[in-house]
Amino acid sequence: MHFPLPPHGGELINTLASASEREKWLQKAPSLPRLTLNERELSDIDMLACGALSPLKGFMGQADYESVVEKMRLANGLVWSLPITLSVKEENASKYEVDADVALYAPTGECLAILHVKEKYKYDKEREAEKVYKTKEEKHPGVAAVYAQGPVYLGGPVTVLNRVKYDDFSEYRKDPAELRKIFQEKKWRTIVGFQTRNPIHRAHEYIQKCALEIVDGLLVHPLVGATKSDDIPAAVRMKCYEALLKNYYPLDRTYLSVFPAAMRYAGPREAIFHALVRKNYGCTHFIVGRDHAGVGSYYGTYEAQELFDQFELEDLGILPLKFENSFWCKRTGGMATAKTSPSGPDEQVSLSGTKVRDMLRAGQLPPPEFSRPEVAKILIEAMKGS
Ligand code: ADX
Repeated sequence: MHFPLPPHGGELINTLASASEREKWLQKAPSLPRLTLNERELSDIDMLACGALSPLKGFMGQADYESVVEKMRLANGLVWSLPITLSVKEENASKYEVDADVALYAPTGECLAILHVKEKYKYDKEREAEKVYKTKEEKHPGVAAVYAQGPVYLGGPVTVLNRVKYDDFSEYRKDPAELRKIFQEKKWRTIVGFQTRNPIHRAHEYIQKCALEIVDGLLVHPLVGATKSDDIPAAVRMKCYEALLKNYYPLDRTYLSVFPAAMRYAGPREAIFHALVRKNYGCTHFIVGRDHAGVGSYYGTYEAQELFDQFELEDLGILPLKFENSFWCKRTGGMATAKTSPSGPDEQVSLSGTKVRDMLRAGQLPPPEFSRPEVAKILIEAMKGS
């Protein structure tokens, strides 16, 4: 095996315009039909700009969309599990013509990119919900987002003129090419990526450290794009990650950077997506624990792990590291899983999210076997303000 491993599809796609092209398009943009992106689409354009979504060069046309929804592969056969699409409302669809250009704007009014429209097509929302999210229920936040969007997709490559201007976590925003360079400088050949949308508790820490026993470096890569309203805000989580890394992690073998994607809560399919995209950021391994990217009880505890088995390893190009439900084990006096301890449920400390939230809200520290006190204190403070 030759390191570093290649991005998905072989090369990092760069959709950023050259200086002269950028000038040309910025002048032309005011005369083009205009489309303002929502929060999820902003995340997508930011990832399209830097190659995080390689091999994608833009929003999906119908052949890729259909193939991804039905077979979890792009039309050319490459594994890809989530549609990356741009929707428009029925009443606006006629404004956007095939083989013409559309200027994509941020809600702040800044022109971000040009979409070169190659296709305009209708799609079946319920089928997308059923196939991608495995439910048609509107209670599912990913499904609700599909139902709320327009019924027509515009597909085509993008030329990015301006990166999305985020005013948070700037020192932690690193593009795939930047992270790949950093890993090379650190002489890490094998890197495990860790996706999270939560504060890091002892169970997360345990599976990261198990992984760190066998690879050169750990990329803690928390998602900071849109999440559902009852998830803990990224700004609070970042404080937790900083405190945790400072006190409990080998800093020469750990790197913290943020992942700009929005959560879709698509469980197994999102786990595949999370892994492929982390490959683009330079990871060779990816952690998949219990109910990865899940919400409610829509997915089986290990369904995300099982989905990885449907693909050949060489088609994924990144190795999933699968971990069972982890807990503090009173019998062995350490973190464990059912694979490593014979303890029964009454000897295991694992608290539900709701229980922990109630404790934090009441100003109580959860047991140190569940959460490091530095993390719990930050969460208690944050809850006082909410
Ligand atoms: S996720 O939506 O980003 O997957 P979360 O931040 O809770 O949610 O999980 C991050 C990663 O840790 C996922 O791979 C998840 O499967 C794993 N994980 C979370 N809690 C546990 C646990 N108690 N035991 C094993 N794996 C876990």
